[in-house]
Amino acid sequence: MTIQHIAAKEISNIVKDITVGEIMDKLEIPPDTSFGDLAFPCYILAKQLRQSPALIAQSLEEKLSKSDVFEQVKAVGPYLNLFLKQAPIAKNVLTEIFTMGADYGSSKKGSGESVTIDLSSPNIAKPFSMGHLRSTVIGNSIANIAEKLGYKAIRINHLGDWGTQFGKLMTAYEKWGDEKRVKENPIKELNILYVRFHEEAKVDDSLNDEARSWFKKLEEGHSGATALWKWFRDESLKEFQKIYDLLNVSFDSMQGEAFYNDKMLPIVEELTEKGLLLESEGAMVVDLHEAELPPALIKKKDGASLYVTRDLAAAKFRQNTYDFTQSLYVVGHEQSLHFEQVKKVLHKMGYEWANDMHHIPFGFILQDGKKMSTRKGKTILLEEVLKQMISQAEHNIKEKNPTLANKDKVAELVGVGAVIFNDLKQSRLNSVEFNIENMLRFEGETGPYVQYTYARASTLLMKGGWQKSDDCELHDILKEPYVWELIITLEKFPAVVERAFRDYEPSIVSRYVIELARYFNQYYGKIRVLSGTDAEQQLRLTLVKVVTIVLKDGLRLLGIQAPEQM
Ligand code: ARG
Repeated sequence: MTIQHIAAKEISNIVKDITVGEIMDKLEIPPDTSFGDLAFPCYILAKQLRQSPALIAQSLEEKLSKSDVFEQVKAVGPYLNLFLKQAPIAKNVLTEIFTMGADYGSSKKGSGESVTIDLSSPNIAKPFSMGHLRSTVIGNSIANIAEKLGYKAIRINHLGDWGTQFGKLMTAYEKWGDEKRVKENPIKELNILYVRFHEEAKVDDSLNDEARSWFKKLEEGHSGATALWKWFRDESLKEFQKIYDLLNVSFDSMQGEAFYNDKMLPIVEELTEKGLLLESEGAMVVDLHEAELPPALIKKKDGASLYVTRDLAAAKFRQNTYDFTQSLYVVGHEQSLHFEQVKKVLHKMGYEWANDMHHIPFGFILQDGKKMSTRKGKTILLEEVLKQMISQAEHNIKEKNPTLANKDKVAELVGVGAVIFNDLKQSRLNSVEFNIENMLRFEGETGPYVQYTYARASTLLMKGGWQKSDDCELHDILKEPYVWELIITLEKFPAVVERAFRDYEPSIVSRYVIELARYFNQYYGKIRVLSGTDAEQQLRLTLVKVVTIVLKDGLRLLGIQAPEQM
């Protein structure tokens, strides 16, 4: 039970005609615990009780002061400031965390339900972009959070492995390509070929004709074209896999656009049967004007099918295969219109489950205020960026802790953790500033700050020889500064996880781990944990232990690993 719930129940015993839920909704959290743990705005009762809010507050103060739940109740103007009895709450939280361990905060809310998550989805033979990085990191975190709530999360990498770019690439490879070089450095070389194609096609239009004919061969299943396609795909995937390994992300399905090649004709037929397909300037479209959307292009003039059509096929396939209760698409906000169209067409086809499809958009990654791009001439390869982060992290660690064992591994976790945390630390719709130095700082709102807090706490546990005990009371140390703040912060973790999933917003978890880490560091700054009697030390270490459990799991939900030492 949350502190809101405990307090609301108690208030509802006295104030009639208002439900516990309504009270919980209205309870506010004061800016500082010196004003109470919670504040109840009495004006919401003024109409019903026909009294001024200040008078209501005073009469409630008198009645609630006798309750077992509150240590103190203070009327301040129209507000009732509530101070909870701390010992029983602290005991409950600690008991729950020790009983559940790393499962603390989990629930069965989603049990029996599947959530498909379309994430990452880079394009073959093109560099892995910053947008794909964001999609990977946000999508993976949402999947972790869903799993914590008992949902079955299905991570789908909807690879961009089909399209006219392959015709261009084959043309370029045939003309200027070198097998050995591509094998050595696939993404870089294929991208060079791709860029060169565009350069030369500007002056030589016949290249475009050649590209079209290569793509046609591919669509018709010509063996040479298919072999090249497969080779480009495999080489690209090998490169992408290096990034996924670093990020520690894996997928349940790698079925990309090509997988739907044979599943689009049935869609076109179904649309025709349902009378939804119209001809417009030689192309086939579904009219969506009643939803104030431009028509959805289903088939081009030359018969080539389109992105929308593939996504229609994919959505149906996912519904049939996974029977999802939610189907999420973690894709940049530039594609909002596309997903609106896809949903609307499915609606018109009569599929109610289209309501369960949600586009989860996000903002750009910026460098010095400008959109950071991995495209065209100034190719920044993501793998190189990650490697650079890791070596910078290693440098920082060496300065801070030269004798640390396993420096390489720790540097990897810190470098990658810094990138992930930076991506998830604010609301996903905001743009993210990519600044290597800032991301790696040990203080402020960074991944390394939280990881360092965790490592510091873990070291304390080792040094102090913490021993698990069945006593979950904090006794006298409850009065030490910041202990109560830590307790109520720990207490709200389950609610944080729920909210993060409800809003598909990993930043709710990242803000939370920052808050928890900050209170811990404040405590650590004020109190010498390993001082006083043995009993006191063990009590403090018990508190340190529960903090490590929740910090570690919070980071895990974000997709970040926490080294024990740093
Ligand atoms: N490959 C696409 C891109 O890079 C993203 C695909 C997103 N997923 C989807 N089902 N359309 O723009």
